[in-house]
Amino acid sequence: MSENIDTLLKESRVYQPTAQTKAAAHIQDYESAYKKSIADPEGFWATVAKELEWFSPWTKVLEWNYPWAKWFVGATCNIAYNCLDRHVKTWRKNKVAIIWVSEQDQERVITYGELYRQVNRCANALKKLGITKGDRVTIYLPKVPEQIVAMLACARIGAIHSVVYSGFSAPALANRIQDAEAKLVITADVGFDRGKVLNLKTVVDQAVANSPTVERVVVLRRQTPGVALAAPKELDWHDWLKNEKAVCEAEPLDAEHPLYILYTSGTTGKPKGVVHVHGGYMVGTYITTKYVFDLKEDDVYFCVADPGWVTGHSYIVYGPLLNGATILTAEGKPDYPTPGRWWDLIERYGVSIFYTTPTAIRLLMRYGEDWPKKYDLSSLRVLGSVGEPINPEAWEWFHRATGGDKPIMDTWWQTETGSIMITPLPTVPLKPGSATRPFLGIEADVVDSAGNSLPANAGGFAVIKKPWPAMMRTIYKDPERYKTYWNTIPNCYTAGDICHKDEDGYMWFMGRADDVIKVAGNRLGTAEVESALVSHHAVAEAAVIGKPHKLVGESIKAFIILKQGEVESPALIQSIKDQVMTELGKIAVPSEIDIVPSLPKTRSGKIMRRVLKAKELGQDLGDISTIED
Ligand code: WTA
Repeated sequence: MSENIDTLLKESRVYQPTAQTKAAAHIQDYESAYKKSIADPEGFWATVAKELEWFSPWTKVLEWNYPWAKWFVGATCNIAYNCLDRHVKTWRKNKVAIIWVSEQDQERVITYGELYRQVNRCANALKKLGITKGDRVTIYLPKVPEQIVAMLACARIGAIHSVVYSGFSAPALANRIQDAEAKLVITADVGFDRGKVLNLKTVVDQAVANSPTVERVVVLRRQTPGVALAAPKELDWHDWLKNEKAVCEAEPLDAEHPLYILYTSGTTGKPKGVVHVHGGYMVGTYITTKYVFDLKEDDVYFCVADPGWVTGHSYIVYGPLLNGATILTAEGKPDYPTPGRWWDLIERYGVSIFYTTPTAIRLLMRYGEDWPKKYDLSSLRVLGSVGEPINPEAWEWFHRATGGDKPIMDTWWQTETGSIMITPLPTVPLKPGSATRPFLGIEADVVDSAGNSLPANAGGFAVIKKPWPAMMRTIYKDPERYKTYWNTIPNCYTAGDICHKDEDGYMWFMGRADDVIKVAGNRLGTAEVESALVSHHAVAEAAVIGKPHKLVGESIKAFIILKQGEVESPALIQSIKDQVMTELGKIAVPSEIDIVPSLPKTRSGKIMRRVLKAKELGQDLGDISTIED
């Protein structure tokens, strides 16, 4: 990138933490805690690591052989031990670990003791199938507790799990099974999506037919009569575990032993198998969950993600369990059976921490503020957002809808980073639309393509300047691809996102570098233009792309979803353009606006601008295995 990115968005609102938020917060003074942490990052991470249990200690905190990192060198540990045994040794053995609610409102409550026993049975059953340390297991399950059990059981014996989101098609699943060379696939007969039955077993049958490494398929049967299974290759989950002992010692593993592979393509390109390891990942997810959400013993923590993507791995399963938290997890969508679904769950279970996505917030906004008003949301204490830049409009709505006094943690991170990187803590003053400042121990900056720090309000690349414990260790079977993250800009980890810092050092993410639009010598991030579009009262969602233009390089085309009850008209289109004009200026006004019923999104809710652009320009769509519809 030769030129910097222009920043047009001006957001001046600031929210100070309330006295109540400050009263008991783990971190009272971010500024001094941060300064101390980056004066000696290795010391900081080692202190955190000592809050967890290790089978044998490290000889060195970090071995940095650019771009390869090893953390807690020489130590042995097991993340599943820290998620379970550490708690069942204490009073927490009878504490609720998981409250699970199905789409049909079936409820299951699992204590730490019960989770420990289920995981151990599953670990023993895995061993019986000949799964050993280092073997890969593909988990293709809907959002049911068995998904968590299977993940932890793999971790317990040192097998490597590869969780594949249960909405993926057979070719996408086959691709991921084959790349990982999985020996075992764990699946279910069906999943549910807005009342529709998804036949997962059929998808697995097709995928496994072309995957010679798969020796066995375990099927969790949720429906009666159960789907027929072809013995001996196919096993029933309950039969598989029934006679197993509830004790299975956790395998002591090198801190650098792989924990999982998670395939990500984000919004661009071919899926890559991001590899995370036991030791560093455990330290990073543990402490971010504790500090970012100010997690306390009596919280009820509700993260709406699916363990099929990284937020589920780090912030439904590992981070919260490492902290001994009570986790609410619910199958299904935010607006099914009604747009009050999540608010209802919050009221029903007294949720105090609620972690969601901008996409979901914008969806709920479309249904209006009367829905949250119907429920008692007073149990809420801390809110979170992840996955995309949250536009100030959605931020304000979320804040208001939940009572107007709960801090929103806009957490920026990636599958590759493993844990939250740029984020407020509840006691940090908030600016709607900004992910604020780096987490403790993380050094971040905004730089040009040569790696030079940019002044305040100049847009450029978001980078991380030093290794951190939860960072990915490699791309599975593709070390060259791993290196590109660290050599695009020398000596920095380049996230591929563009960003600017304001005068207070607050970071404002502006979209993906690949999506930057170049209009008449100006370079614009998609997030600002989209944010200006959705600040119009009639607009629910927006995506923008650049189209080649003879005179100005690129022109902006916007795709818009209108709010319920709004009707398309030339006057409306004009008023939307006027809104962008007022918010950002002439340069950012789209020359074309299409009203559309939906936008192409990844299954985790990110808009795939690349697909919109390819369609618009009549080009090949590339890999669209992660697309939702
Ligand atoms: C985007 C999800 C702005 C970003 C945890 C990043 C965000 C990509 C935010 C990673 C945020 C995530 N503000 N953008 N708070 N959080 N992103 O791998 O573009 O699914 O690079 O990890 O999502 O997506 P991934």
